[in-house]
Formats: sequence, C-alpha cells, structure tokens
Amino acid sequence: MTARRPLIAGNWKMNGLRSDGLALAAEVAKRLKAQGAASFDMLVCPPSTLIAEVGKTVSGSGVAVGGQDCHANVSGAHTGDISAAMLADAGCSYVIVGHSERRTDHGESDAVVKAKAAAALKAGLIAVICIGETEAQRDAGKTLEVNKTQIAGSVPDGATAANMVIAYEPVWAIGTGRTPTNAEVQEVHAFIRNELVAKVGPAEAAGVRVLYGGSMKPGNAKELLALPDVDGGLIGGASLKADDFWAIAQCCP
Ligand code: 13P
Repeated sequence: MTARRPLIAGNWKMNGLRSDGLALAAEVAKRLKAQGAASFDMLVCPPSTLIAEVGKTVSGSGVAVGGQDCHANVSGAHTGDISAAMLADAGCSYVIVGHSERRTDHGESDAVVKAKAAAALKAGLIAVICIGETEAQRDAGKTLEVNKTQIAGSVPDGATAANMVIAYEPVWAIGTGRTPTNAEVQEVHAFIRNELVAKVGPAEAAGVRVLYGGSMKPGNAKELLALPDVDGGLIGGASLKADDFWAIAQCCP
C-alpha cells in the first residue's frame, strides 16, 4: 500500500475572535514545534478574518493554514467572496471546498464545488474536497451512490494525490456526537478511493489522503485513524480546544 502521511485538519467554522483564535493557534503551533519530527501533517482553517494573523502566529512551527471556502474566479465583482489566489496570498496552503454547510447554506452544487476546487489548484493550493451523505440518504441505502456522484461531480481535472485531499463527512455525524461504525467508515473510504481511480488513475488514487470528519474526538480518534483507508481527520468542534485537537493528532498511527 502507498504510504500516506496523515493530515489532522481543524475546521474552526465561524468561530474565533482574535483573542481566543490566536491563543489556540499559538498553543497548537507550540506543541507541534515541541514534538519535532511528527508522523502527521497539521492544518488549521480559521475564519477569513484571522488567516493572516494565524499564519504569522504558526510560522515556523509546521502548522499549515487553510481557508474554509473560496470563489471560483480569481477576482472581480463578487461582494463578500474571497478568491483562492487571495487565500494563497494571505499565507494559506490549503482550502476546504464543498463542506456540507456550504452545500446546504449556500446551495453549492457539485459543479460549483468542482469549479472552486479547480480555482484552488490553479492558485497552488491543496483542495480539501468534502463529500458525504445525509441521514435520509443513508437510511434509504444510498450512501455509496451519493458519495460516488459527489466524487464524479466535484473532483476537477488536474487533481492529483499532491494537490487534493478528500474529506468524507457524513452530514448526520457533523456536530451530533454520532459516528458511523468503524466498518461503515472503512467501507465508504475504500469505496471513495476506488472511485478516484476513474478520476486520477490507480497510482494517484492510492496516494490521495481521504480524511474522516464528523464528531471525531479524542475518545474515538484512535480507532478511526487506524482504519486502512482513513488518512486523517477533518475536525470541527474538537479542533477549537488545543488539548482535544492535539490529543486527536497523537492518535495517528
Ligand atoms: P464536528 O467535528 O464538530 O462534528 O465537525 C466536523 C466538520 O464538519 C469538520 O469540517
């Protein structure tokens, strides 16, 4: 099996004022730096208002910074939006696209997510492309079908193991304290990797990091991160506490 370096990613969502956000970033940076040679990559995705300052705070620690969304265009008349080039310019090396909260709150379709991911690659960012089924879709037995469609529709041309990360986030597991069983997670992750073969070929698909997201916490991270096709986590609530975020990272195999 191709060795994939785990990625522990924190999605702060719409949380963090300067005081608490910068303190959190500083604490995470301090721990990663103190650890020295880590076996995992670490990423924090603060709200846009804090990206530049978080970037300065974590500079030299090895902690990467990412945006939570980007526009598909480079610039122009798009009030309130931020382009991938702007994120790169502000110090980001990653951007999350297609999070279920964007798909739901902002009506983002697979085509929109694909265009955003393509813009991210063009700007030199690593795109963290989020997919996942709703509870109704899982109950209807459509989990694999839904994730297949989202992979087919959201992964842009030119994606590789180096510039793309997939985050499987079952919508019903986000912020609920509920998670699929380990067997269910592994089934979907292996399925996703197989679907990626059609997009990027077998060699690249074997190297793409597929993260699990949805109520990952210190208490369940070890078993989730030990699954063969789980290559890290996209963590919401638990990434807002340095102790929890760090404890999850320490569960990497
Ligand atoms: P929680 O970890 O809070 O469930 O959020 C997961 C998520 O949506 C990360 O993008």
